[in-house]
Amino acid sequence: MLQDAFDRPIRDLRISVTDRCNFRCTYCMPLDEYVWMDKQEILTFSEIARIATLFVRLGVSKIRLTGGEPLARKDLNTLIARLSLICGLEDLCLTTNGSLLAEQVEALARAGLKRVNVSIDTLDPEKFRRMTKRGNLEQVLAGLFAARAQGLHPIKLNAVVERGVNDDDIIPLAEFARKQGFQLRFIEYMDVGNANNWVTSKVVPKKEILQKIHAHLPLEKFGSNQGHAPSVDYRYADGNGEVGVIASMTKPFCSNCTRARLTADGRLVTCLFSLRGHDLKALLRGGATDGEISAMISKVWRARTDRYSDQRRKAINSDSGYHAGDHRKLEMISLGG
Ligand code: GTP
Ligand code: 5AD
Ligand code: SF4
Ligand code: SF4
Repeated sequence: MLQDAFDRPIRDLRISVTDRCNFRCTYCMPLDEYVWMDKQEILTFSEIARIATLFVRLGVSKIRLTGGEPLARKDLNTLIARLSLICGLEDLCLTTNGSLLAEQVEALARAGLKRVNVSIDTLDPEKFRRMTKRGNLEQVLAGLFAARAQGLHPIKLNAVVERGVNDDDIIPLAEFARKQGFQLRFIEYMDVGNANNWVTSKVVPKKEILQKIHAHLPLEKFGSNQGHAPSVDYRYADGNGEVGVIASMTKPFCSNCTRARLTADGRLVTCLFSLRGHDLKALLRGGATDGEISAMISKVWRARTDRYSDQRRKAINSDSGYHAGDHRKLEMISLGG
């Protein structure tokens, strides 16, 4: 089994299919101007399928397609159809902002997509527009309901909580998700990338999120989805649904991190907070054999020592503190979270 320097196997591959996005979420990519990847640098579907197959042979059983906004990539359903044929792949899913879901979900489901995670941080249309700068809440809700009508399951909702921005949306979101049968996860605001002007004071810690929910809708813990999933889930005491919290800031989960990331331009990245990746595309386009590409992936994974969130937690608690601006990182939009 392929394991990294801390004995963590490689199990999940998050594939970013484009760095473009039709939203400009303030916590991710608020900039109007950005240097986007050159079209020729973006991996073709055949290249992605070839690399994905090699990852599965090395131990990956779950693939998630991300962006930017993955549905902004034309004909994504054809990629899903190809990936769903890979032998040994157990879970194929998508993380999306939901804006293009209503129009595409039928084709995606037909191609083999079983489940989807959708970002939604508020149910207030004006605030939704402010937080995403370009988003339309109604379209996202239409996408969610269309996905449910297609039988996708589970449908997970991702809500990043920012103090003073949408912490008052926690209860309305929880009630909405419960009522509609969606699995909601609140996410602690992270210092991903460099563009989002992250400050500690905007982080609402998991403890506070849970206290807020518990005061209104009593909860009981029942563990995480899978041993290595970021979300820790809680059940409503009345038996009606669940809610999760992804607490990378206050309860980091690096010790179980089995996730590799592939950027749209073919770089293998071993941590969400990395500054650079390893160029698989150069090998691919340089005529390397499957064996040579697999050897490169294995070499990178064996040498992996990433545990950024653990280290950040220690720094925050130390005398010198943690200064997000001192750490250059790849932007979230090119890594897909
Ligand atoms: P499930 O398989 O459905 O549990 O999905 P997921 O939660 O792994 O993926 P999703 O794309 O929905 O991500 C939810 C949040 O978790 C996003 O904010 C991601 O950035 C964050 N996340 C996912 N993986 C990692 C990770 O390895 N490290 C950190 N720090 N955050 C992560
Ligand atoms: N902190 C936490 N989560 C974030 N996401 C984007 N930016 C941040 C951030 N700064 C989430 C989005 C999306 C997922 C891919 O990453 O809400 O659901
Ligand atoms: Fe928002 Fe996702 Fe686009 Fe980032 S990639 S700006 S989180 S919709
Ligand atoms: Fe994995 Fe890096 Fe996230 Fe830690 S911070 S869980 S090593 S991606």
